[in-house]
Amino acid sequence: MKKGNRITWVALYMLMWATSNFLPEAFIDPPVFNIAHRGASGHAPEHTLPAYQQAVEMQTDYIEIDLQQTTDGSFVAFHDEELSRTTSGQGKLKDITIDDLKALDAGSWFNQLYPEKSNQDYKDLQVPLLEEIIQCLHPDVSFYIEIKETKEGAMDQLLALLNKYELIESNRVVLQSFDEDILKKMHELEPAIPLVQLIHQDRLSSIDYQQVYEYAIGAGVAHSLLNQQRVKQIRQAGLLVYAYTVNKEEDMKRLMEWGVKGLFTDYPDRLEHVKKSLDKP
Ligand code: G3P
Ligand code: CA
Repeated sequence: MKKGNRITWVALYMLMWATSNFLPEAFIDPPVFNIAHRGASGHAPEHTLPAYQQAVEMQTDYIEIDLQQTTDGSFVAFHDEELSRTTSGQGKLKDITIDDLKALDAGSWFNQLYPEKSNQDYKDLQVPLLEEIIQCLHPDVSFYIEIKETKEGAMDQLLALLNKYELIESNRVVLQSFDEDILKKMHELEPAIPLVQLIHQDRLSSIDYQQVYEYAIGAGVAHSLLNQQRVKQIRQAGLLVYAYTVNKEEDMKRLMEWGVKGLFTDYPDRLEHVKKSLDKP
């Protein structure tokens, strides 16, 4: 083969590899993943270290983390835009510094709302940094991180953190987002990370699943929007199906029967029990 032709073929191969779906072995015919939604958030205050630790004790496969940034750029685990539901603070997460956020009580709200589950240890818990969570739970735990609103350069910053703790090479991280531009950018930066496209109700019928397959390994959908036909349609595009947030045993059973490959739940202990009762790996 002439040198020019060879270079063209190599370039073409590299382009195909870079743009193709990359499926790590763990995702080829995987078991049903038990994904602890904001930690074991049915048992302890969401996105706090006790919620994550309890999930690990309950044999969860992944800890789900909602990733946001403070005004000075720190990655923290926090679900809402507003501080008021789950902390003693007011205002928006994106407007607070990490020092001010750390001074807030992120656990007492849970004791007040669920007195039957309250625990004095939850009082004055802090909102955790992503790095603190990884350090605290490393090296046994895998993370299913939802990228929410982030700043310029956040993907490079996140990638550096994942690499620092070798989460990509040890196959212990999945990234998900409703924002397809974020996922495409991450796929370009590091195609080895398994990505999951979260899909809102209004896009469920119109989205091109074959196109999602170009950069993602799966689709995440609210469980109430799924039916057997929809699961089949998504799987036919080569994508795995993940369902949120599934807390009732009958829903867990039905979704598994339809071929859903991961359930986000506030009760990882309940899901583990259901999986065992169905003899699911
Ligand atoms: O990760 C899927 C699910 O968590 C999305 O919903 O609102 O709980 O972040 P939300
Ligand atoms: Ca989430």
